[in-house]
Amino acid sequence: MVVSTSSSLDTAALRADFPFLDELVGGRPLAYLDSASSTQKPRQVLDRMRAFYEHEYANVHRGVYRLAERATEGYEGARRTVATFLSAPSEREVIFTRSATESINLVAYAWGLQNLGPGDTVVITELEHHANFVPWQFIASRTGASFRHIPIDDAGELQLDALDDLAREGSIKVVAVGLVSNSLGTINPVERLTAWAHEQGAIMVVDAAQAAPHRTIDVQALGCDFLALSSHKLCGPSGIGALWGRRELLEAMAPFNLGGEMIRSVGFDRTTFNELPYKFEAGTPAIAEAVGFGSAIDYISEIGLPAIERHEHELTVYAMARLEELAWVRIFGPAAERRAGIVSFDVEGIHPHDVAQILDWEGIAVRAGHHCTQPLMARLGVAATTRASFYLYSIAEEVDRLVEGLHKVKKSLG
Ligand SMILES: Cc1ncc(COP(=O)(O)O)c(C=O)c1O
Repeated sequence: MVVSTSSSLDTAALRADFPFLDELVGGRPLAYLDSASSTQKPRQVLDRMRAFYEHEYANVHRGVYRLAERATEGYEGARRTVATFLSAPSEREVIFTRSATESINLVAYAWGLQNLGPGDTVVITELEHHANFVPWQFIASRTGASFRHIPIDDAGELQLDALDDLAREGSIKVVAVGLVSNSLGTINPVERLTAWAHEQGAIMVVDAAQAAPHRTIDVQALGCDFLALSSHKLCGPSGIGALWGRRELLEAMAPFNLGGEMIRSVGFDRTTFNELPYKFEAGTPAIAEAVGFGSAIDYISEIGLPAIERHEHELTVYAMARLEELAWVRIFGPAAERRAGIVSFDVEGIHPHDVAQILDWEGIAVRAGHHCTQPLMARLGVAATTRASFYLYSIAEEVDRLVEGLHKVKKSLG
C-alpha cells in the first residue's frame, strides 16, 4: 500500500536523533510501537544528562560551593521548564515526584486523608489506568468515602449522561480523570468534567501521563486542581515525574513523604515544614533525571506539540484504515478523530501474548496485556488486548510492517 501520510514533521531528520533506531532485532530494524508504555530517548536528552553528570553534578540546595549551586540551578531550571510547559501560574506549584503514579498517590494520601470521610464520594472513570484508580479506591476505603465511576459507551467514550445520577448520589469531593486513555486512546472532555466537578464542590485531578507528551497542556485553561505527568513518556528519563497543584490546596495539605529537605526546623518536641514545593520533596531528589526531564520538554517543545499531535493523528488514521482491512481484527475504542495515537485490537481466536510474541520475531514491538486497566478490560469483555502506539519518531512503514506481521500471526496460529 502506498504510504499516504502527509505529516509536517520531518521524521527522517527526527529519527536520526534516536540511537535506538540503529538497533536490529533478529537482523531487522526495530519497529517500536510501544511508546504509550514508554518513549525512546533522543541524543539531546542523553547528552544533556551526561554533561550534567560530568560537569555540574552535586547534591542540590545544600551546598554553598559553586558546583552545588550549578547543580541546584540545573534542577530548579528543570522545574521552571515544567511550569512553563504546563502554563502553571508559579513554579512553586510544581513538585518533582518519581512518576505520574507517585504524583497521584501524593494527592490521594495528602489531600484525601485530610479531606475525605463517610458520606463523601470519589468519582473516577471506567477508562482509568490503575495509577488513577487504585490510590483513590484505597483512600476512599480508608476514609469511608464512596468510590464511583463514570461508565463508557461501546465506543469507549465517557457517558456524560451518567453525571446527573452521580451528582444525586451524594457529596462528590474528588473527580479524577485521565485526559487520554492509555488503552483506547480516548480523549476525555476534561474541561467539561472540571466544570462539573467544581459545580459539585469537588476537586479535579487530571492524569495527564498520556496527554502531556502529545498535546499542549495549560492547567489554567483546563481549570483543574491537580495534574500528574511522567518524564519517561515524553522522551525523558524514567524515575521522575511531576505534580502540578493549586497553591492554596498544596499549602493546606500535610506532607506526603517525611525526612530531610522537606523541613524548616526539627526539634524533639516539634518539626515544622518547608515552603512549597520543598515540603513535598523529601530526601535527595532524582537530580540528573530532573535535568533530563527539562531537556526532553525542550526537545519536544522545539518540535512543537501541535505538529507532534498532527503526525500521530495521521498515523492513527492510517493504522486504523489498514487494520480495518483485516476482517479478523477487531479494533477497540473511538474513531480516529476522537482518539490519540493508540490503537488497541484483538486478533480473532489468538491470545494477545501470542500475537505480540510472533510480532517480536518480526522485529515489531507492541504491548499485549491489560495495560493496567483491568476494569476497562472487564467492560470490553476481554482479558487483554494488543496495543500499538505511536510517537514523533513513528512512521507509516512501521504500520505496514505491523499489518504484514499480523498476516503472519494469522497464518501461523489462526
Ligand atoms: C494514563 C496513565 N496514567 C498513569 C500512568 C502511570 O505512569 P507512570 O508509570 O510513569 O507512573 C500511565 C503509564 O502507563 C498511564 O498510561
